[in-house]
Amino acid sequence: MKGVILAGGLGKRLGVLTRITNKHLLPIYDRPMIYYPLKTLVEAGISEILLVTGGNNAGDFLRLLGNGEEFGLKHLNYTYQRGEGGIAEALSLTEHFAAGDQITVMLGDNIVEQSIKRYVDHFVQQDKGAKILLKAVEDPWRFGVAELNGPHIVGIEEKPKTPKSSYIVTGIYMYDSQVFDIIRTLKPSGRGEMEITDVNNAYIRQRQMTYDTLEGWWTDAGLPETLYRAATLVRTRTMQQGGVSVPEPLWCER
Ligand code: DAU
Repeated sequence: MKGVILAGGLGKRLGVLTRITNKHLLPIYDRPMIYYPLKTLVEAGISEILLVTGGNNAGDFLRLLGNGEEFGLKHLNYTYQRGEGGIAEALSLTEHFAAGDQITVMLGDNIVEQSIKRYVDHFVQQDKGAKILLKAVEDPWRFGVAELNGPHIVGIEEKPKTPKSSYIVTGIYMYDSQVFDIIRTLKPSGRGEMEITDVNNAYIRQRQMTYDTLEGWWTDAGLPETLYRAATLVRTRTMQQGGVSVPEPLWCER
């Protein structure tokens, strides 16, 4: 199993925050955003990881992360996405790295509370196809929304006006090597992007898609409001684990 983090795109929905840097380098409490998906993949037992970056600050990822020593990695792979052609386009750039192996893909702005190791282990047991992780949320219209029929996923709609359920597709995807053949068949969507939802619907049509429901909290961080929420969730978890980043007296200094 190899790991892929997609941190391309231009992060336009964060306005001036991304005028001079990449969204995934912005802070979530006491770490840059990109630290969280990287840690999540490493904690799932994945040590061969490729990071897809883009925009004007790609070199900053290398300066920040190096070979991933801080995460216990021996080496970290990088590749570059020109422009903002969509999540599936960014994923297509990882074919040489996957080289026929199963991959776990995580969007660079997704943050989870708990380990995803058990889901990755389930997928390793799955002979072929794909797996997605779903989460019930209060604002499903902002995401890819799953239509479910008991244990089966019937279809996914990207940002529907009238969601068919409250279960959204989180930015954690597991694929076999067919994924690259599927991406080659796709056409850009109405918003001009190669959509990951089209990839997932292709697996659903072939009856090769399974899902698990993600436990613990999950959030993306691509809007000012969700960036703030992500920081709050991470801060609370850090406090619960006994970690305090700012020494108390600093608040009292004049
Ligand atoms: O967060 C989960 C959601 O992510 C899913 O529910 C949706 O189905 C999926 O389409 C996606 O929706 P967003 O509209 O939130 O995706 P966004 O354009 O914000 O991109 C999310 C991440 O994907 C971004 O942080 C980096 C990566 N990305 C995105 C684009 C458009 C790339 O690497 N390259 C790209 O061209």
